[in-house]
Amino acid sequence: MKKLYLIAAFASILLSLGFVAACGGDDGDEGESAGQLEIFSWWTAGGEADGLEQFFATYRKEYEDVEIVNAAVAGGAGANAKAVLKNRMLGGDPPDSFQVHGGQELIDTWVVPGKMEPITDIWDDEGWRDVYPEQLVEMVTHEDEIYSVPANVHRGNVLWYNKKVLDDNGIQPPKTFEDFFAAAEKLKAKGIPALALGDKLKWEAAHLFEDVLLGTLGPDGYRGLWTGETSWEGAEVKKALANYDRMLDYVNKDHAAHTWDSATQMVLDGDAAMTVMGDWAHGYFLSKGAKPNVDYGWAPAPGTEGSFMVVTDTFGLPDGAPHRTDAVNWLKVVGSKEGQEAFNPKKGSICARTDCDMSVFDEYLKSSATDFKANQLTPSEAHGSAAPEGFVTEFNDIVFSFVTGRDTEAATSAIQQACTDSGMCA
Ligand code: GAL
Repeated sequence: MKKLYLIAAFASILLSLGFVAACGGDDGDEGESAGQLEIFSWWTAGGEADGLEQFFATYRKEYEDVEIVNAAVAGGAGANAKAVLKNRMLGGDPPDSFQVHGGQELIDTWVVPGKMEPITDIWDDEGWRDVYPEQLVEMVTHEDEIYSVPANVHRGNVLWYNKKVLDDNGIQPPKTFEDFFAAAEKLKAKGIPALALGDKLKWEAAHLFEDVLLGTLGPDGYRGLWTGETSWEGAEVKKALANYDRMLDYVNKDHAAHTWDSATQMVLDGDAAMTVMGDWAHGYFLSKGAKPNVDYGWAPAPGTEGSFMVVTDTFGLPDGAPHRTDAVNWLKVVGSKEGQEAFNPKKGSICARTDCDMSVFDEYLKSSATDFKANQLTPSEAHGSAAPEGFVTEFNDIVFSFVTGRDTEAATSAIQQACTDSGMCA
């Protein structure tokens, strides 16, 4: 009788353990799949969504029984997603993995407050240290631990143009600001906005301005903005604002109603001649069936030849990821050669890994890969690498106000103040 009772008790403990595992879905340390994976990003636009789907397809090949929940929140550069993510993370409801830019956005926002698990062991097991450039590894490292895996490298400083519009007007892609202004005047005479801008979510105005800063200050002066060596109130930044101010004279009047992708569409439709945007615009053009070097062309943003504004999307492991084993497998796919070769040609970016097969990339992406190796690399502020998030938000607000108010003194002193407040210019 006693024996029977013990067996029944043991069985009920086993049952309840099984019940807990099934309900909680926490595969924790056991390493078993929970059959689900929730991935958070802001990739919903043309090109972005197609790239993400390629990562999912690669994942499904190996883990066909895992249901993937795509928790993407629309809005370029994470303009809406970041707030949703913050609520979830602080509310103890993390996704299994989320898109985050390498650099300050990862380290300052998530790693330092203890919200991420280090993934250094995965890096070592997968041999990633041998196939990633040192600069990228540094952007995801904090105090000797690695916290995420870069999926790609986007170039932030690209001028995209409608080939037919420039050809019809006898215009060469402008290399300098003066070239740009001469071209813009010609186009103005024909009633064509030279530059498409869509700053509905604010960051797009800051994106254009950071490229103008790079084009005016050069790579060293630009880098100095993030180390305190270049003053925000100095003559160089004022010159950059003057260039920016002048460029704004040639943007579409309805810019505040557009987003990055609808502004890119304006170029494709010939409603504007050019736009300055990261090369996710290339992914967008491709998703619309446009042909590179036929329907659209590209050049470094004015003044930025020889510099490469680095934007890298990475994925990490939030502390308390609900389906940890499935999340770890996701990271392995993101860091894999196969995953990156599938994702990047659609996304409009180059592999973060150095060993991808270049034959899968088109003409534009091949040129980007060449420039990434040869150019001066500079960190993007608008896309999370150069500055802490508090500064990024204030900078977006200040630059957005400048677009309407055009007040140079107010802008430079407000940015200087934001820089001091953030501790960057202390
Ligand atoms: C950037 C991101 C890119 C692209 C872009 C527009 O911040 O790094 O992958 O998605 O926003 O949404």
